[in-house]
Amino acid sequence: MAELTHAQRVNSNRLAEEYFDSLMIRYRYIGSVEPTIEYTLYGQTFRTPILCGPLAYMALNRIHESGRMGLARGLDDAGSGMISAWIGDDELKALADAGFRVARSIKPFADHDRVFRLIESAEQLGAFAVCIDIDHIFDERGNYCAWAEGQLGRHTAADFKAYAAATKLPLILKGVLSPADAEACVEAGVGGIILSNHNNRFPSAIPPLAALPEIKKIVDGRFPVLVDGCIVSGVEAFKALALGADGVLASRVFMSAFSDGPSGVTKKLDEMTAELKCCMANTGTASIGAFSPDVLSRRSW
Ligand SMILES: Cc1cc2nc3c(=O)[nH]c(=O)nc-3n(C[C@H](O)[C@H](O)[C@H](O)COP(=O)(O)O)c2cc1C
Repeated sequence: MAELTHAQRVNSNRLAEEYFDSLMIRYRYIGSVEPTIEYTLYGQTFRTPILCGPLAYMALNRIHESGRMGLARGLDDAGSGMISAWIGDDELKALADAGFRVARSIKPFADHDRVFRLIESAEQLGAFAVCIDIDHIFDERGNYCAWAEGQLGRHTAADFKAYAAATKLPLILKGVLSPADAEACVEAGVGGIILSNHNNRFPSAIPPLAALPEIKKIVDGRFPVLVDGCIVSGVEAFKALALGADGVLASRVFMSAFSDGPSGVTKKLDEMTAELKCCMANTGTASIGAFSPDVLSRRSW
C-alpha cells in the first residue's frame, strides 16, 4: 500500500478536537440561575439541543438488533430526534408513525428528479425536515461519487433553490464549511445548514467550530446553523452553542452507547444534556438561545 502523504495524514477529526480543546470556559456564578434546556427547531420542541446525526443503518444493525428503530426509541426517550442517513419510505413511515422525530437524508443524486421524489415522499410520510450532504458529491479521487444506491452529481445553488421551493419542509444542507457555500445557501433559500467534516471524509478540513463565526455572519439569522463533529459530551455541545451554533448533532458517540441498546443511547444522551446544563448553570447561561461568546476564551499558549 502506498504511504500516505502528510496532507492525507492530517486527520480532520483531530483538528476539530484540538479546536474544541483550545476553548476554555470562563465560569461565573454570581446571579446565575438553574437553566432551562428546552429547545425548538422547525416547530419541534426537544428536551435537549443535542440531536443525532446521520448514521448508516448497516452500522446500526451490526451494533444492536433493534437497528435504526431502537436508536430512534433511545433518542426519543431522552427527548431528542435524529437526522437519519439513507432511509427507504417504509422505514421512514414506521419511524414517523411511532412518533419519532426524524429528518430524512437524501444523497445529491445526479438524477435530480429522484431527489424531488424523495423530498416529496419525506413530506408525505411525516419527516420534519430533509437533509442533503453536499460533501458526498465527489469521491476520494475527485470523481463524481458512484454511491451504492445511485450515481451522485453536480449541484448548483439554483438546484438547491428548486428543491427548497418544492417542499414545505425545511431543506438542510450538510457539509458546509466555506463562506462561498454559506452564501450559496442564502441564495438558495435553504432552511438550515450543518457545519461538518463528515467524519474526516477529506483531510485537513477546517474545524466546523473555526468556520462558524464567519458563516454565522453571512447567514445573519436567516436559518439555523447547526454544527457536528467530535461532540462527545455536553462540554463540546456547550462550546459550539456558545460560539453561536443554533443546535448540535452527535453521531459516533451514540454508536458506542447503542451496544447497550436503546436504553444505552438514552443514558448517554441524558448524561450529555446534564453536562451541558452544568456548564450553562456555571456560566450564567439561563437558556438555549441565551448564550454569550464571553463565556469562552481561546488558549493562546
Ligand atoms: C458509520 C457512519 C455512517 C455515516 N453515514 C452518514 C450518512 O449516510 N450521511 C451523512 O451525511 N453523514 C454520515 N456520517 C457522518 C456523521 O453524520 C457525522 O457527520 C460525523 O460522524 C461527525 O460527527 P461525530 O463526530 O459526532 O460522529 C456517518 C458517520 C458514521 C461514523
